[in-house]
Amino acid sequence: MFNHLIDIKNLSKEQILQIIDLATKFEKGAYSSNCREKHLALLFCENSTRTRFSFEVAANNLGIHTYIFDVSHSSFTKGESMKDTLENLYAIGIKGIVIRHSEDGIFERTLEEIDCPIKLINAGEGRKSHPTQALLDFYTMKKHLNFLEGRKIAIIGDIKHSRVARSNVALLNKFGTEVILCAPDYFRAYDLEADYVDKFEDALADADVVMFLRVQNERLEEKISVSKYIKQYGLTMEKLEKFVKPTALIMHPGPVNRDVEISSDILDSERGKIILEQAHNGVFVRMAVLEMLLGGV
Ligand code: CP
Repeated sequence: MFNHLIDIKNLSKEQILQIIDLATKFEKGAYSSNCREKHLALLFCENSTRTRFSFEVAANNLGIHTYIFDVSHSSFTKGESMKDTLENLYAIGIKGIVIRHSEDGIFERTLEEIDCPIKLINAGEGRKSHPTQALLDFYTMKKHLNFLEGRKIAIIGDIKHSRVARSNVALLNKFGTEVILCAPDYFRAYDLEADYVDKFEDALADADVVMFLRVQNERLEEKISVSKYIKQYGLTMEKLEKFVKPTALIMHPGPVNRDVEISSDILDSERGKIILEQAHNGVFVRMAVLEMLLGGV
């Protein structure tokens, strides 16, 4: 159906729905694996908790053998290229590789270079894309809201550095969802197909989903005033009760900067539980992706 998972933009609506349908079957225990005993490597050149562990759990649930690629002890340190690395891994028996990398465009470049059918799975690429995060967010929204067409989704925070925002906007635009962005000037980017609203309260009003993004301190070009940011864009219990619909989903891809994007009392309340549900759902979505790529669905 598709050979690699590189970018949500490359998937049709039907392919996305097929992934969601298969993930639902996995969650219900209504589908069994066709990729037992396959070999999968996980190459994380940037740090991760949720994505790495949920890919590992997903693969183990499917009976796939997983291998953590230890970058610091690999032959990358001797100057070996990505092309040579992947071709050698394939020769050894690795049929797929999950990669997180800081470089925008690394997957397209690698695909042009390699001469072997190893399956590439994007686990987060620079600021550009994070397709499985968008898929698990979509899965979570669909479970709660049933349909997304005509729904209003507000994405708030560090849009500029966010691969999560880019992949979510690309996915949600395929489904007729109204996506609005809200961020201070220093966190805005204009390569996403969605409009900005200036005021935080306007972004929250009538939203069916409010998705907060992490302030990516490690990618900031200049220091920001965190206290000013929290005052303008941080969600507190008071703002939640005043401006957000009682039925709206409060989401965040994680990791959360507690008391920056969202206050701790919200995170530890019922309304904050969706964020852990996102992490939970990631396992089923990643099982579906691995099954489709390695199991030949
Ligand atoms: N949401 C997400 O990608 O989290 P990790 O960086 O922990 O994988």
